[in-house]
Amino acid sequence: MKWFKNYTILLTALMLVNTLSVEAHKKTKTKQGILLVTFGSSYPETRLAFENIDEIVKAEFPGIEVRWAYTSKMIRKIIRKRGGEVDSPAEALAKMGEDGFTHVAVQSLHIIPGKEYDNLKQTVEAFNNMPKGIQVAEIGTPLLFLDHDLIKLADVLHEQFKNRLNSKTAVLFMGHGTHHQSNIYYPGFEYYLKQKSDQYFMGTVEGFPLLDAIIPQLKSKGIKKVVLTPFMSVAGDHARNDMAGNEEDSWKIILEKEGFSTEIAMTGLAEYDEVVAIWVEHLRAICQELGIR
Ligand code: CO
Repeated sequence: MKWFKNYTILLTALMLVNTLSVEAHKKTKTKQGILLVTFGSSYPETRLAFENIDEIVKAEFPGIEVRWAYTSKMIRKIIRKRGGEVDSPAEALAKMGEDGFTHVAVQSLHIIPGKEYDNLKQTVEAFNNMPKGIQVAEIGTPLLFLDHDLIKLADVLHEQFKNRLNSKTAVLFMGHGTHHQSNIYYPGFEYYLKQKSDQYFMGTVEGFPLLDAIIPQLKSKGIKKVVLTPFMSVAGDHARNDMAGNEEDSWKIILEKEGFSTEIAMTGLAEYDEVVAIWVEHLRAICQELGIR
């Protein structure tokens, strides 16, 4: 039976070598990457906010390549006209496939799961199992998605703004707003803020509620001063013009005409590290699924 014993040993050894080589093969063929996707902004001042996210993500995932894409076609057009370079999510994913990435974590840097997020999700799904391209791509949820996110963001913003509140001062956040069903996140999040103080208000530029609906509430509370701040990832066009501009239709001018004094906090949400941490938490969840760490 000696031949049988030797044969078994040989067979076991061969199987082991085979397993190892399969593992090695798999390993050399895997390339992981992160794609950060924002609406984008044409304002150079917003670069600081994007750089802040970039730095935090790179520190969190050392050795993993991080790329960017903008979902706004209009913004990409403006940047290209100036000679800048920026990809759409589809362009960025196609390039990553071409550059040999097999596993890509795509993190939405949007605020709510609205139209931009829906479109991105569809794009990411289309890039799964792309022949000769990316094998697996997953999308991380935007800033506000689950109850847990809203609780955390309310905590973070209250920490930032609680010292500005007093019986005659309110903080009014300017959200973008949308006709998509997820607009409900704006009045919904205001409810979470109200658990901290009923002097927090949320308005939107193009959704619900508009400023007209907020002014009577401010008046009935006896508010004299309104701190205005963007509820957007960066303090871009809407924050600088629609919120704090000197044209007669800006929130600042309208509020002043209504007798309030105003103060501007020109800080985009992405400039607060604790806010970026919420996006990073969503990114970490998909990276875990993809084996990226
Ligand atoms: Co807009």
